[in-house]
Amino acid sequence: MGKLDGQVAVITGGARGQGRAHAMALAAEGADIVLCDITAQVASVAYPLGSEQDLAETVELVRATGRRCLPITADVRSREQMDSVAAQTVADFGRIDILLANAGIASSALIADMPEQTWRDMIDINLTGVFHSFHAVVPHMVERGRGRIVATSSIVARMGARKSGHYTAAKWGVVGLVKSLALEVAEHGITVNAVLPAGVQTDMIMNPATYRELMPDIENPTRADAMAMFEAGGGLIQPAEVSEMILVLVSESGRRYNGEAITISGGMSANTI
Ligand SMILES: NC(=O)c1ccc[n+]([C@@H]2O[C@H](COP(=O)([O-])OP(=O)(O)OC[C@H]3O[C@@H](n4cnc5c(N)ncnc54)[C@H](O)[C@@H]3O)[C@@H](O)[C@H]2O)c1
Repeated sequence: MGKLDGQVAVITGGARGQGRAHAMALAAEGADIVLCDITAQVASVAYPLGSEQDLAETVELVRATGRRCLPITADVRSREQMDSVAAQTVADFGRIDILLANAGIASSALIADMPEQTWRDMIDINLTGVFHSFHAVVPHMVERGRGRIVATSSIVARMGARKSGHYTAAKWGVVGLVKSLALEVAEHGITVNAVLPAGVQTDMIMNPATYRELMPDIENPTRADAMAMFEAGGGLIQPAEVSEMILVLVSESGRRYNGEAITISGGMSANTI
């Protein structure tokens, strides 16, 4: 018997990376999964976002566990599309027990040089996208008197980050949104929390554009160079390690967590507030 038998989880940014790991972890505990992903490029992002093929692979992996899986191509920037993800989930699976607001992008620019569109894309996806995801599922959860919501913020929501002012502002914003929603819906049996991971080994950071940003002194930095650099800094977190905390937050044992901003940093948070 799984911890989430009979439950239904919606995961944004579910095509790959952490979203895929969370889908696998929740499905292994008995949850049916709805995966939402943009599967298209955003011009201000210098690495490829999740593809149709990534999404299809995650669907296969979830179905291989014996659970149902519905993929929906949708953009968290659109309130209508996210409302439609919620409506389609309820129509097909009958309920939404869990929302993981995980979709996100990364890009790099000094604040003084940042193109307006780079700022807007970041805030629209990494902050407003979380708002749209919350807004879409909360009425249904309130009606049912239960629900578990986890948003993926970042360790940068405890600090500033050079060339990531827009990302950092969005991730601090997510924590404010999470704590506010937690206050608004606690009386309806809904918990709302944020996880704040440090570097996680996904395509968001394991890509040539990011290697060049991180290692400007190396002419053509490789994946091996990046791994060596990350290892020297304590190593990257694996997506499944973030899933372990998410599983606590969405299952019965997480009932006392509400409005929390939980760092998963391998000790980095010892240097932060
Ligand atoms: N990788 C890290 O080091 C790290 C650290 C802390 C927090 N995070 C956060 O974790 C979350 C998951 O990222 P990841 O590491 O798995 O990276 P990832 O790039 O592998 O996955 C992100 C997914 O979100 C999807 N996405 C992007 N924009 C979208 C949109 N507008 N609508 C719907 N889907 C969209 C992408 O297509 C992709 O599949 C993000 O919110 C990210 O900011 C990542």
